Amino acid sequence: MSTRKIIIDTDPGQDDAVAILLALASPELEVLGITAVAGNVPLALTQKNARIICELAGRVDIPVYAGCAAPLTRALVTAEHVHGKTGLDGPQLPDPVMSLQDGHAVDFLIRTLRAQETGTVTLCPLGPLTNIAMAFQKAPDIVERVQEIVLMGGAYFAVGNITPTAEFNIYVDPQAADIVFKSGVPITVVPLDVTHKALVTKPRNDAFRALGTPVGQAVAMMTDFFERFDREKYGSLGAPLHDPCVTAYLIRPGLFTGRHINVEIETTSELTLGMTVADWWGVTDRTPNATFLGDVDADGFFTLLTERLARL
Ligand code: BDR
Ligand code: CA
Repeated sequence: MSTRKIIIDTDPGQDDAVAILLALASPELEVLGITAVAGNVPLALTQKNARIICELAGRVDIPVYAGCAAPLTRALVTAEHVHGKTGLDGPQLPDPVMSLQDGHAVDFLIRTLRAQETGTVTLCPLGPLTNIAMAFQKAPDIVERVQEIVLMGGAYFAVGNITPTAEFNIYVDPQAADIVFKSGVPITVVPLDVTHKALVTKPRNDAFRALGTPVGQAVAMMTDFFERFDREKYGSLGAPLHDPCVTAYLIRPGLFTGRHINVEIETTSELTLGMTVADWWGVTDRTPNATFLGDVDADGFFTLLTERLARL
């Protein structure tokens, strides 16, 4: 089996944590490194949380780098109201022993893309796109070396979660998102339209806990924690498990469907800042620049996730 080389760019976040665990449990993926960015919580916590999760998975060999502490031009907006003070509220996990790598995440991205064969590295952003945009600006030669970007962000039918019209990751750094969506790199977008169908219902949460392993317990406690917020907000049966849809897509793309369309980012309007203007119905002649997913086989996704987590 050939493995796909990926770099996970992330702001853990309980759902980021599950996405990382799924990647580390899957032989289809080779994680070259994890780059942390400010998002759900400040950078000091996201880089620490990334290391906590690597240690939970027993993968102290994964290099973790700290990246941008703030969006390209705007002040940082965080989401402790969803993820708790630490970003990983829920389980009590030990502080990491493995060290943070020296150097900036952006330089790791540039160095790695230059060192690997062209078209063999996929970037998986699970937070604001600041690190990726910064790398593209600093080293334009790496843009054509990226195989694909598979990112969690945006929404069309689901419209928004942090504002009425914007999804959190895109809203936090719309300028960065604009750079990435205009880069010409093949992009697959996992928007809220998909992740709001991947709900951690009680039976699905019970299945994590029933694994009877430290990873299963931690994932059950993490999803329990952020569930309270979404249950109150949406009145749904469980919380959307956003970021693991990215890693699941890489492992089993057949679980998802979507359309290749044009997606533009709103960067100026105060009212709709960070909106992903997705031409789902093909009503413009703008050139398609992204595969925008719209649906997921939720049962298949949770079966895959639970089966993989059992391996850790
Ligand atoms: C996204 O925002 C964060 O809160 C989650 O980790 C996910 O990446 C969902 O809008
Ligand atoms: Ca995230």
